[in-house]
Amino acid sequence: MRIEISKNISITDLESIYGGSIPPYHPPFYIQSRLRDGQMFAARVDTKVAGFLSYTFIWGNCPFVELLKVVPDFQRHGIGRALMDAAKKEIRGMGFKRLISSSEESNPGGQTFHERLGFTRLNTVLLSHGNEVFFGIDL
Ligand SMILES: CC(C)(COP(=O)(O)OP(=O)(O)OC[C@H]1O[C@@H](n2cnc3c(N)ncnc32)[C@H](O)[C@@H]1OP(=O)(O)O)[C@@H](O)C(=O)NCCC(=O)NCCS
Repeated sequence: MRIEISKNISITDLESIYGGSIPPYHPPFYIQSRLRDGQMFAARVDTKVAGFLSYTFIWGNCPFVELLKVVPDFQRHGIGRALMDAAKKEIRGMGFKRLISSSEESNPGGQTFHERLGFTRLNTVLLSHGNEVFFGIDL
């Protein structure tokens, strides 16, 4: 499977990744700002969009992976790892030394994914949608 990671991503690609429409809890202003600022990567397999990752800088100085999603049919083929590797490389290139990410506590797969990639579990924070487990990795 040939995985291509790029910044070539559109609203239509995101709709496809979400199976039809982007959920309302990711409002258009948010999606537009990450696209505009180039803080979103797409993964493609044979030109078909298979996943995406978006990141931001909390407090302007703490790189944070916000969203990471791989289309179910393409999961467990190294696409999530490839997206994270691309984000790590780009953020490291900006001079940052550490990256933070997270996963819902109710999503054991998301937590194992981070651990397999070498992230260390930090702490759990109660947010409006439930408990969120935070992870960190040195770049
Ligand atoms: C979590 C997610 C991004 C992983 O993407 P992926 O492309 O399937 O992951 P990869 O194939 O790159 O796997 C990387 C490593 O994580 C492990 N892993 C991935 N998903 C896993 C799961 N559900 N359970 C256990 N281990 C998992 C893989 O075995 C692999 O380990 P290895 O390289 O040591 O063999 C993807 O399953 C997804 O989008 N899930 C739904 C949304 C979600 O949970 N988002 C992320 C919250 S962090």
